[in-house]
Amino acid sequence: MTEPEPPALPPAATASQPVSKATEQAINPWDVQAAVDDEGNVQEFDYAAISQQWATRLIDDELLERFERITGHKPHRWLRRKLFFSHRDLDLILDTYERGDDFLLYTGRGPSSDAMHIGHTIPFEFTKWLQDVFDVPLVIMLTDDEKFLFKEKLKQEEVYEFARQNAKDIISVGFDVKKTFIYIDSEFFTSGFNRHFSLNATEFEKLITNNQVRGAFGFHGSTNIGSNAFAAKQCVAAFASSYPFIWGDDVKTYRRSKKLAAMPCLIPCAIDQDPYFRLVRENSHRMDNPSPKTALIHSKFLTALQGSGGKMSASNPNSAIYMSDTEKQVKNKINRHAFSGGQETLELHREKGGNPDIDVPYQYLAYFEDDDEKLLRLANEYRKGELGAGEMKSECINMMTQYVKKFQEAREKVTDEILEDFLRPRKLEWRGNPNPTKPKNEKPDEKTEGGSVLDADGKPMTKNAMKKAAKMAEIERKKKEKEAAAAAAAKQ
Ligand code: TRP
Repeated sequence: MTEPEPPALPPAATASQPVSKATEQAINPWDVQAAVDDEGNVQEFDYAAISQQWATRLIDDELLERFERITGHKPHRWLRRKLFFSHRDLDLILDTYERGDDFLLYTGRGPSSDAMHIGHTIPFEFTKWLQDVFDVPLVIMLTDDEKFLFKEKLKQEEVYEFARQNAKDIISVGFDVKKTFIYIDSEFFTSGFNRHFSLNATEFEKLITNNQVRGAFGFHGSTNIGSNAFAAKQCVAAFASSYPFIWGDDVKTYRRSKKLAAMPCLIPCAIDQDPYFRLVRENSHRMDNPSPKTALIHSKFLTALQGSGGKMSASNPNSAIYMSDTEKQVKNKINRHAFSGGQETLELHREKGGNPDIDVPYQYLAYFEDDDEKLLRLANEYRKGELGAGEMKSECINMMTQYVKKFQEAREKVTDEILEDFLRPRKLEWRGNPNPTKPKNEKPDEKTEGGSVLDADGKPMTKNAMKKAAKMAEIERKKKEKEAAAAAAAKQ
C-alpha cells in the first residue's frame, strides 16, 4: 500500500451539531472500504453505483443467453447469480470465440501472505472454469514486486516465498499445466524470457504520465517511483505479445509480434483492479503494435464472516475461512463468528422468520451451492422461519468443509517439481473453439487498426481523415489528463 495521505480531520463537534460518521464507499486497488452511515454502521457495497461511476457494463441475462448459445455451457452459478456482475467488452470476446480466434486469459494475485482464504480462491475457480469453457491459454501473474513496493514492512525474499506458496494454492484449484503459465514477477523479470514483456513495459511507461497515474491511483509526490513502474507491468501483462514463448515464438529477437499484440485478452478480476485496466484500455491502441482494449469480467467481494462491509483479513483469522483450516476450525468459525440473519431466539425465528440477504452462512451457500432450486428453497424456508439459523449454519458448514477438504487433498499433491513445471516459460497447448460459427477476420494482424475505419456517416475514412481524427483524439486525451491531474491535485 502507498503511504496513505493523512486523513482529513473530522469537523469539530458542537453541541448542536454532532460529528457525522458517514463516509462514502471507497474502492481502489489498495483499499476497499464500504460506506458508513451516520450512526457508524458499515453499509453493503453499492455495486451498481461503482459500475455506473466507472462506466462498466452490468452483466445481464441477454449477455448470459448469448454466452450459453455460443459456448454451449450453462453460465457458471457466479454469473447466474451476478456475483461476477460487471464487464467490459465480454461481447467482443464472444465474437472472437465465435470466429475460432485465440485470445489470452490473464489474472493474478498480490501475494501478501502465505495463506489464502476462500475469498482468494474464488477468482481462480472462476478463471479455471472460463479456461475449461473456452480452451485458451492462461497466464497468472504473482506480483511479489507489487507487494514489496506497496507494503512498508515486507522483505523481497519473504514476498517471493509467499508467492511460491500461493502458486501452489492456485495450482490446487485444478489448472491444466499444458495451458497455464504462472509467473512470479521477481523471477520472470530476471529470467531472460521477459525481453518482450520488458520492451512492452518500457514502451507503455513512456506513454503514461505522472498525471495519469495520479488520476487513476491517487499516487502523490511522496509515492515511491517503483509504484509507477509497477502499474505499467500489471498493464502490459495483458498483451499476448509479452509472452512470445507461449506461441513458440522467438524470445531473443527485439522485434515484438504485431500479430500477438493484436490478440484480445480477457481478465477476470475483482472490481477493485479495474483502475489498472482502464489505463491499459485507454492506451493500448497507442502502442507501436496496437492491442485491442482488454476485456474484463468483474467480481464482487466475498463478505467477511462478520457480515456485510466487513473485511476478511489475515490479522483476524476469525474473519475468514482459510484454505488451510481444519474441519473443526471451519465448523467453529461458522458457528461462532458467522453473522446470522436469524432472530435472537428460536421462538422469535419461527414467528418472524430470518433474513437470508444478510445471513453470512446463506451468502456463502450462494457462492458454493450449485443447485439453484435448493438455494431458493433454503432462502424461502428461512424467511418463513421454517429453517432455523443453526440449520442454515450446518448447511454452510457441510458445504465449506467439503470445499476445503477437496482443496487440501489437491494441495498435498502439489510438489516443488509440479510448481516448477507451471513456472517454466514454455510453449502452451490448447484447442480453442472446435466449431467456429463465424468466418475468421480477413487480416487478423490489422484487426485493431480496423482495416477500413468508418466515419460518423458510415463511409470509409481516407488516410488523411484518419490522421486528423487520431490527432483530435490525442488532444482530447491530453485535455482529459490535465483535468484529472487538476482534480487529483485539488483532492490533496
Ligand atoms: N494487483 C493484484 C493484487 O494485488 C494482482 C494482479 C496482477 C491481478 N495482475 C492481475 C489481479 C490481473 C487480477 C487480474 O491482487
